[in-house]
Parts: sequence; C-alpha cells; structure tokens
Amino acid sequence: MADLFDKIHNFTAVKEARAQGIYPYFLPLQNSEGATATFEGREVVMIGSNNYLGLTTHPKVRQAAMDAIAQYGTSCTGSRFLNGTLELHLELERRLARFMGAEAALTFTTGYQANVGTITALVGKGDYVICDKEDHASIIDGCQMSYGEMRRFSHNDVSSLDAVLARIPENAGKLVVVDGVYSMGGDIAPLPQIVAICKKHGARIMVDDAHSIGVLGNGRGTAAAGSGAASGSMLWRSSSAVGSAPWARHSAQYASSRLLMRARLALISTLARFSSSVKARPLVRACCTSPAAHKAGRIFSPV
Ligand SMILES: Cc1ncc(COP(=O)(O)O)c(C=O)c1O
Repeated sequence: MADLFDKIHNFTAVKEARAQGIYPYFLPLQNSEGATATFEGREVVMIGSNNYLGLTTHPKVRQAAMDAIAQYGTSCTGSRFLNGTLELHLELERRLARFMGAEAALTFTTGYQANVGTITALVGKGDYVICDKEDHASIIDGCQMSYGEMRRFSHNDVSSLDAVLARIPENAGKLVVVDGVYSMGGDIAPLPQIVAICKKHGARIMVDDAHSIGVLGNGRGTAAAGSGAASGSMLWRSSSAVGSAPWARHSAQYASSRLLMRARLALISTLARFSSSVKARPLVRACCTSPAAHKAGRIFSPV
C-alpha cells in the first residue's frame, strides 16, 4: 500500500547536497543588517537582501516599531476583517495612497499575500489571467488559486503578449500580470508597450513592483519611472524595495472595494498584519486606486 510519506523518505537531494557542502538554503545568519552579513562567525558580502533602502534598521523605523508595540502589544487580536483593524492600518494605507497618487491603498502582510489575494479576488470563472513566463512564483500561485484560465507569454516579449491576448475571447475579462523589475534578471517590464497592447485587447494590467517601489520613479515605481504611456493607467503595485515593503495600487473604486471584501489574505491572516503596519517596516503590501487610472483604467500593480 502506498504511504503518503514515501516521497519524504525517498527525498535525498538535501542530504546529498549537505554532504558535499553545497546546500545553499536556510543558512542561519548571525547578523544581516547591511551590505555585509555574519555567517559562521565570518563577515560575508550580502547580495540577496531586499533591504535596498536600509529601512529595516533605520532608527526612526525601529523606534516606531517599539512605540507601536508598547501601545498595542504584539498582535491585533483578530482578523483585519472583524476586530483586527487599527487606526494605524488606516493611517498607513492613507499615506501609501497619497504617496502613490492613488485613491486608496490596501495593505497585505507580504508580497506573496498581495499577489495571491489580489489575483484570486479579481480573476473569477470565465476570466483569463495572462503572465510573463518569468513572473514571480507568488503570481503563479495566485493564478493557479483563482478560478480563471491562465495563459503565459514569453518574457518581456510584447509580440508574444499580443498573440496570446488575440487568442482569448474578446468578451472575457483579462488581467495581464507582470513584474515591474524582475527579481532574478533585474530587467524592467516594457510598460508603455504593454499598456498599448492591453488597451488594444481590453485587458487590465497588474504590475508587481516589489523591486522598484522606493527605488525607481522617485520611489513610486516602474510606471512612474518610465513611461508617460503608463501614467494615467491603472496601476497595482507591490514593493520589496522599500526594505521589503510591497503594496499595490489599482484603479477603480470597484476594484478596491472588491479587493477589500474578497481578498481573503488581506482579511484573515491576523498576526503579521499587525506587525506589518505597526513596525512600519516594509513587510507591507497594499493596493491603491488612482483617479487618473480610473479613467484610462488599464494597469494596476502590486507593491
Ligand atoms: C517580484 C516579487 N514579488 C513578490 C515577492 C514575495 O514577497 P514576500 O517575500 O514579501 O512574500 C517577491 C519576493 O522577494 C518578489 O521578488
């Protein structure tokens, strides 16, 4: 009889890699606050951190976290949906929206949650979600967890996107999801061209700006950085760059209210939500809505 655990007993790759001294994951660091980290008592160069702006250890951020913990404790004692929303959350969301020039913002605890929560809230049965082949894994998870159909196009290839969109029924709802800055290659999505193609096919756009909020476009991300064509479009963003602070903005009040009610990950996961805004540390994902975007209404991106 098959045992569910057989796959665990037969999984030897980690043991083998460890035996050869080449296993790279879950290595404990004694300190990793800056450009260098301490590993096994040695100082090593850190090239994997998302703490681009150094906010994780900024004295003001540390102090804000301590003040918030002193006032509220370490949890908000309930889901955001019910008794877990604090004034602090709303203030953070207001400030994020203002910074992004958006109507509204919704914070998520992590980028993973922003992507999964948003995509599953927006893409339903009969809709299509279209991803770049190098989109972050959390976007792919969001697509797979939604009830929509998923399609993929070649990395940063707008003619491939055009061809994929052309094969989707005209009347179906369509969401194109790209990374603003791709986390592995560091290349940037060609948003102006993507916007033009999405407009042509009546598709909405979501941009995961995990690596560009706080870094590009005066901190406002990929669309602000690059493209006149993208501004005035619908944006939804998320950011790791603000020390790992992701958030999102998208157009249309409809989308934000639907997100608020449907993005289960924004509503239900209690613990970290508190710490995200309380620590003011960039473990926050949000979405925002912009009036200009409402009109042109095509892109939105997770921050
Ligand atoms: C582009 C992108 N989106 C989403 C995420 C997930 O973010 P988090 O680790 O906060 O869940 C990452 C992780 O670094 C990322 O690079």
